[in-house]
Amino acid sequence: MFEILRKEQLNENTFLMEIKAELAARNILPGQFVIIMTEEKGERIPLTISAFNRKKGSITIVFQAIGASTIKLSRLEAGDAVAHLVGPLGKATELEGISSACVIGGGVGCAIALPEAKRLHDRGRYVDIIAGFRSKDIVMLENEMKASSDRLIMCTDDGTYGEKGFVTDALKRELESGRKYDCVIAIGPIVMMRAVSELTRSDGIRTIVSLNPIMIDGTGMCGCCRVTVDGKTMFACVDGPDFDAHKVDFNELLIRNGMYREQEAEAKDHVCRLYGGGNDA
Ligand code: FAD
Ligand code: FES
Ligand code: MG
Repeated sequence: MFEILRKEQLNENTFLMEIKAELAARNILPGQFVIIMTEEKGERIPLTISAFNRKKGSITIVFQAIGASTIKLSRLEAGDAVAHLVGPLGKATELEGISSACVIGGGVGCAIALPEAKRLHDRGRYVDIIAGFRSKDIVMLENEMKASSDRLIMCTDDGTYGEKGFVTDALKRELESGRKYDCVIAIGPIVMMRAVSELTRSDGIRTIVSLNPIMIDGTGMCGCCRVTVDGKTMFACVDGPDFDAHKVDFNELLIRNGMYREQEAEAKDHVCRLYGGGNDA
């Protein structure tokens, strides 16, 4: 069992949990993820680490409660425990050789991108963060992003906070004004990562995205997380989750991630008549 040390609600459906996980905390690096099972027979949920504390032996995750398993996880409190946690999984983000970066987060992707920005900033590299949210009421981690960057550009789709528009509008303006980045790191919805990738392609700016295909085992065996990169089949759990954005087949990823929408909706609304409970319990 892995004890939840701290829980915070960051917005209407996004939660932060600091979890005691000594083995994972000992080795984990920015870009890597863990797989959590809330209960003994629960679903496996891959979640990227948002922070870690090696001394305390803890990792921090930030997740959106959007379906059956993440809603169950969100109902646990500090002092409760999750049944299983395995990690670190995947490869750490390659940050060597980057002297000036633009780190872009969309929604919960801001939490996932934060450790990369922090690591670069702590090493004295120039970091701009462009953070995008739908609206002011779901903005989160603003202070943390400020502390991990030279400049934080906040954007909301509806203009209720920061600049009005998408993260790509801000990036386009920065690039057109002559700002030079030797790397752009984009983490968020697939359509956002695809749009960023299209923007940086013509200038040949190295662009890293963190892919989130459906995963089961997380160790390269089930084949579920198959993605196509540079025309080749890769398994995001062991070959990624970071990939060169300009080589990713985003359209395939979009289709594959929607494959179980019907079953996911059913699981979310399901109330178990055998054991009681379910998501409405
Ligand atoms: P469901 O209703 O079952 O699914 C909702 C949507 O989540 C699906 O349409 C699908 O796109 C996705 N999903 C469902 N099952 C899986 C699965 N087994 N693996 C991957 N995606 C799935 N989310 C966060 O909020 N924070 C994170 O830090 C984060 N990191 C991730 C890191 C990786 C490497 C991957 C692959 C995914 C990450 N996700 C993260 C997505 C998260 O795993 C899913 O939101 C979660 O599994 C949904 O489970 P559910 O049962 O609550 O929702
Ligand atoms: Fe099974 Fe990647 S999750 S191979
Ligand atoms: Mg699910």
